[in-house]
Order: sequence, then structure tokens, then C-alpha cells
Amino acid sequence: MATIKTQLQIQRHDLSTDKSLRAHSAADELLLKRVGALETKPKSLAIYHDRFGYLTCHLQKLSPVAILTEKSQEKAILANASANDLEGRRFSNPLSPLKKKLDYALIKAPKSLALFQVFLEHIAHNSTAKVIVEVAFMTRHFTPKLLSISNQYFENVEQSKAEKKARTITLTGKKQVPKQDILDVINYRNDSYKQYWGVFSAKHIDYATQYFLDCFELTPEDKVILDLASGNGVIGKEIQRESPDTEIHLLEDSYLAVESAKLNIDGPNVHHHYDNDLTNFKNDTFDLIVTNPPFHFEHEINVKIPIYLFKECFRCLKPGGNLQLVSNTHLNYKTHLTKIFPSVQVLAENEKFVVYKCVK
Ligand SMILES: C[S@@+](CC[C@H](N)C(=O)[O-])C[C@H]1O[C@@H](n2cnc3c(N)ncnc32)[C@H](O)[C@@H]1O
Repeated sequence: MATIKTQLQIQRHDLSTDKSLRAHSAADELLLKRVGALETKPKSLAIYHDRFGYLTCHLQKLSPVAILTEKSQEKAILANASANDLEGRRFSNPLSPLKKKLDYALIKAPKSLALFQVFLEHIAHNSTAKVIVEVAFMTRHFTPKLLSISNQYFENVEQSKAEKKARTITLTGKKQVPKQDILDVINYRNDSYKQYWGVFSAKHIDYATQYFLDCFELTPEDKVILDLASGNGVIGKEIQRESPDTEIHLLEDSYLAVESAKLNIDGPNVHHHYDNDLTNFKNDTFDLIVTNPPFHFEHEINVKIPIYLFKECFRCLKPGGNLQLVSNTHLNYKTHLTKIFPSVQVLAENEKFVVYKCVK
């Protein structure tokens, strides 16, 4: 179909400086090919989980709505659209109803099957009865659960043959399904935490976070605190309980995590930030930054992103302020932290996790 743009330059635009990482895969190419083979143009197209905008930019002539799940995704799509002189972006998210019912949807399958189901829920309640959904993934990431979840929403679930080690599943024959409440409730210590499906960490509070909460240090001098990569807000909430008058900022890249944290922690001194970096904070802002930092990004492990964030933490801490973080012992962040902070001490360590305190 002549509606596919060609010769676009799509880059990753994330916090990583690793230029060897690609902004798209054969699974994205397969989705473009599916759209190109259509005889009739979709009237209302949505694209889910288009991490850096490869599909959104190439299909710009079809005016797709990109369903966003991360701030970093939004920034990357905007940067790639602008670099390629494309205009007219339309964004939404998996919690908001769409103005126009979808007749076609593309999903680049996420690693989280819970998030995949969030996407199908959204499509189920925002589409015509004849909607066609194309789901693409690299064959090595296939799991039969993609099929069983799809079968909850569609009568016909057809897998393609592999091309360049990628495959699609085509979903047609939408079933009438009742709207599900896409929230889990997790009980931990004295609280219940709500979180949308697909938010870290599914069904329980992460064990590294639990270890951190058992041993981090909080003093009366810690008046302005940042919970970086805050997920459902559990670390910020525990701090609020111990120190109710403290000003607490929570910053998170995932839209569904931010919306979950808003259900768990609020108050006049609580500030939620939907962002993937600290550029909106001035130098010397915080007394304390706490974090269980990200290093898994879909199917990749990338420590360059947390290391970039640690450098930003240094900038945003007041002199004498400190960063406390938990990590898996094998990641060996100490080598990097000692290059950034004058003082790095181990607060606690066991065979799996280590908690560092880094003073500016
Ligand atoms: C290990 S989880 C910790 C979540 C939460 N603090 C907890 O302990 O349950 C890391 C979180 O970082 C978020 N994240 C990933 N990249 C980020 C970035 N650049 N800025 C902020 N948050 C990010 C992920 O969405 C994820 O929720």
C-alpha cells in the first residue's frame, strides 16, 4: 500500500549511549508488511508498544493513534517524527477510551503477558466487531500464553510462518467479553497496594525492594526525598508512613505504574512525576534519593541506563545528601558508583542483594 513511508531514519532515543542497539526488529518489519498487503486502508488504526516509533512514523499517512505506555516511548516517537519531518501525531494510553472505534490494531508483543492482556482489553472495548489485530514477535520470544490470552478475546487466532525469525498472530472474530478490572491488589506489611496489570513486580512486592525496605536509612534531616523508578509507589509509601511530613517525589517512566502509585500514595507533600529522567529537577534538590533501579528493558539488560540515572542523582542531591539503592549483587554497581560519588558504603548485603549508600 502506498501509505507506508519509506527511507525513514528511526533511532532509539533512549538514555543509553549504546549505538549498537537497534530501534526496530524483523517483527516490526513484518507488521509493516501486513499493513502493506491490505486491500482497503484501515479507517481507524491503533499501534501498541511501538517502543521507538518505527511503526507510528512509517504509517503516519494512516493517522494511527499510538497507545503509549512509557514517557521514554513518547519522547522517542516525537524525536523520530521530528527528525523525519513528520507531523500530526496522535497519542493515547491503555486506560483512556478512544474517540473512534478501531478497525485495525498492531501490537508489538511486550515481554509482560499481563501488559499484552491490558492491550487486548483496551482493543476489546474500543473497537468494531470486525476489528483485525496483528500481533508480532521474534520467534524466540514466543510463548503459548500469547495464544491462550488471545483466545479469551478472539474466536480466530492464526499464527503465520516465521520470516527472518519473526512471526505474527492474526486475531479476528471479536468475542463479547465483559470489561475486566485490570488492577491487582498486593498485601504487604500493613498496607494493600493496587497496581495495574503489567506493572513491576507482578503479584508481589519485589524481593530486592523488600530487602531494601528492611535496611535503608531514614533520618529526620531527610526533608525532601525522591523515590526514583517508583513502580507502584511502595518505597515512597513506606517512607511516608515513617515520616509523614516529608516532601516525597515519585518519578517513573511507566504510565501504568504512575497511575498505580497515585492510587497508593497521596497527600499534600506527595508529587508524582511521569518521566524517564531527572532533567526537570534543579541541582541540589534532594536530601535523599531511594531506588530499586531498572536494568531490564523488555528482553534487554542494559546497565547504562541506571548508570546515567546515578549521575543525574548526584547532580540533584544537596551536598551531603545521599543516594540509597538496592541491586542484585552480580550487577557490581560499586565500580560505577565510586566514579560518581566521593563516598560509597555497603549498608547491607546477602547472597542475592546489596544496598549501597552513596554520599555527595
Ligand atoms: C526494579 S523496578 C522498581 C519499582 C518499584 N520501585 C519497586 O520497588 O517495586 C524499576 C522501575 O523502573 C521503571 N523505569 C524504567 N526506566 C526508567 C527511567 N528511565 N526512569 C524512571 N523509571 C524507570 C520501570 O518502569 C520499573 O517500574
